[in-house]
Amino acid sequence: MAELPARDDRLSAAVAKAAAVYTPFTLSFYDVIVHGLSNRFAWLCPTQKLIELYATSLSANHLEAGVGTGLFIDRAADAAFDRLVLLDINPSCLARAGRRIERFAPQPWQANLLEPLNADIAQFDSVALTYVLHCLPGRMEEKLKVLDHLRPLMRERAVLFGATILGRGIDPSPAAKKLLAFYNAKGIFNNGADDQSALEAGLRQRFQTVEIERQGCVAIFRAS
Ligand SMILES: C[S@@+](CC[C@H](N)C(=O)[O-])C[C@H]1O[C@@H](n2cnc3c(N)ncnc32)[C@H](O)[C@@H]1O
Repeated sequence: MAELPARDDRLSAAVAKAAAVYTPFTLSFYDVIVHGLSNRFAWLCPTQKLIELYATSLSANHLEAGVGTGLFIDRAADAAFDRLVLLDINPSCLARAGRRIERFAPQPWQANLLEPLNADIAQFDSVALTYVLHCLPGRMEEKLKVLDHLRPLMRERAVLFGATILGRGIDPSPAAKKLLAFYNAKGIFNNGADDQSALEAGLRQRFQTVEIERQGCVAIFRAS
């Protein structure tokens, strides 16, 4: 009988699967599908709400973790950055976002958020983690290891903010249910057990001030 893959191998395969979907081709329509259609009609969280979160939370010394196409920085940043670092496991995302927001001279950083990050880098005043947690494999407590990796990169009063699509404790429309089932079956999402209380508990364990709000299927958070 073939041996089952070890847990670490399964985890690495799940991480790779969740990130591999972002190719130059899929990224060319990502904004329309996710931020144009799904946010509005499936998750019931208007993209404008997330743009406002960025507009009110970005600092001039910012780390964007899980950058995708760079839409939020492009749409929300209204002044130059002293330093803007884009972190992603996927080089296609870094390349596309880097081109889109070239005007801010971003520095790319290819890394896996589920592994300890090189702490030999100056700390940030803001860190964004938007629509990343629902992609990561594992239970919420395991996913939130990313916060333990990001926290050493944050200055004393730095703000962490972002959003994630929940898979439990929500009231999804039939369309949202179908989309959740499809993305989870494909390994693009891994959020079947993600609920707001586990997210909030994990944030409160690690940060003094936590604001969390639900908009449709999406939990929007800010912590410092
Ligand atoms: C759903 S997209 C969100 C992109 C962007 N934040 C947005 O809201 O449009 C998830 C992003 O997280 C990245 N990502 C997924 N797993 C990751 C991991 N383990 N470490 C670092 N980045 C990861 C993906 O490559 C992708 O850029």
